[in-house]
Amino acid sequence: MTVHFIGAGPGAADLITLRGRDLIAACPVCLYAGSLVPQALLAHCPPGARIVNTASMDLDAIIAEIVAAHQAGHDVARLHSGDLSVWSAMGEQLRRLRALGIPYDVTPGVPSFAAAAAALGAELTLPGVAQSVVLTRTSGRASAMPDGETLAAFGATGATLAIHLSVHVLDRVRDELTPHYGADCPVAVVFRASWPDQRIIRATLATLDPAVGVGERTALILVGRALAAEDFDESRLYAGDYDRRFRPVGTDPRFPE
Ligand SMILES: C[S@@+](CC[C@H](N)C(=O)[O-])C[C@H]1O[C@@H](n2cnc3c(N)ncnc32)[C@H](O)[C@@H]1O
Repeated sequence: MTVHFIGAGPGAADLITLRGRDLIAACPVCLYAGSLVPQALLAHCPPGARIVNTASMDLDAIIAEIVAAHQAGHDVARLHSGDLSVWSAMGEQLRRLRALGIPYDVTPGVPSFAAAAAALGAELTLPGVAQSVVLTRTSGRASAMPDGETLAAFGATGATLAIHLSVHVLDRVRDELTPHYGADCPVAVVFRASWPDQRIIRATLATLDPAVGVGERTALILVGRALAAEDFDESRLYAGDYDRRFRPVGTDPRFPE
C-alpha cells in the first residue's frame, strides 16, 4: 500500500501528468483538496472508488482516512493543486506518514506560476533582464513570513517575482515594490490561470488598481521587467557563432565530434 501524492496542476483538467492520471485511475481511494483541484480529474477514479474532499477536514481527520486505507491495503491518490513543492501542506502529511511507517511517493504537477506565465506568453528569465524567479507570498492569517523573506528584500534583487496568496493586498505589493522596480515596471495579475474563466490584467506598478483583487482569491501576481521587455539580448545558446557540444562551430571546436 502506498499513498501517492499527486500534483493536480493549476486548473485545466488536462494539465496533469500522465503518471498522475494513471495513478488516480489505479487507486481505490482518492483524497483531494477540493478548493482548487478540478472536479473533472475525479473522472479518472476507478468505479466504486472512495472519493473524499478534504477541504473541510483537519490534519487528524485526513490522516485517519489514510490510516484506514492502509489497514485495508488500499492505495491512496492524494491530490493537491499545482505542484506539491510549494504551499501544498504536503510536508506535514509526509511527516505523519513517516512516523506511522506508511509508504508514500510524490508525482509533480504543473505549478500555477508556470500556468500564469503560459497565459501571458511570457518567459520570466530573459537574458540581461532577469535570470531568477522568486516564488513567494505575503504573510497571511495562517502563515507569517520568516524574518528576512520580505517583498522588499526580494525586490532588491530585481528578479521576476511570482507572488502567491496575495491578490487581496495588491496595494501593499505595489507600495513595497515600487521603490525597487520603479513605477513603470510591468505587473500582471492572472486570475485562475488555465481555468475556463481565466482573466488577465496587465498594468504597471503605477497604474495597478488594487481594487481588481477585491473578493478574489485564486490569482498570481507577477512583477518584473521581463514581463514586457523587447530590448533584451538573444540567448548565446542559439547564436550562430557559439561553439557547443551539440553544434560544433569553426575549425577548432571546443567539443569536437
Ligand atoms: C495554496 S497555494 C497552492 C499553490 C500550488 N501548490 C502551486 O503549485 O501553484 C494557492 C495559491 O496559488 C496561486 N494559484 C493556484 N492556482 C492558481 C491558478 N490557476 N491561477 C492563478 N493563481 C493560482 C494563488 O496565488 C493561490 O492563492
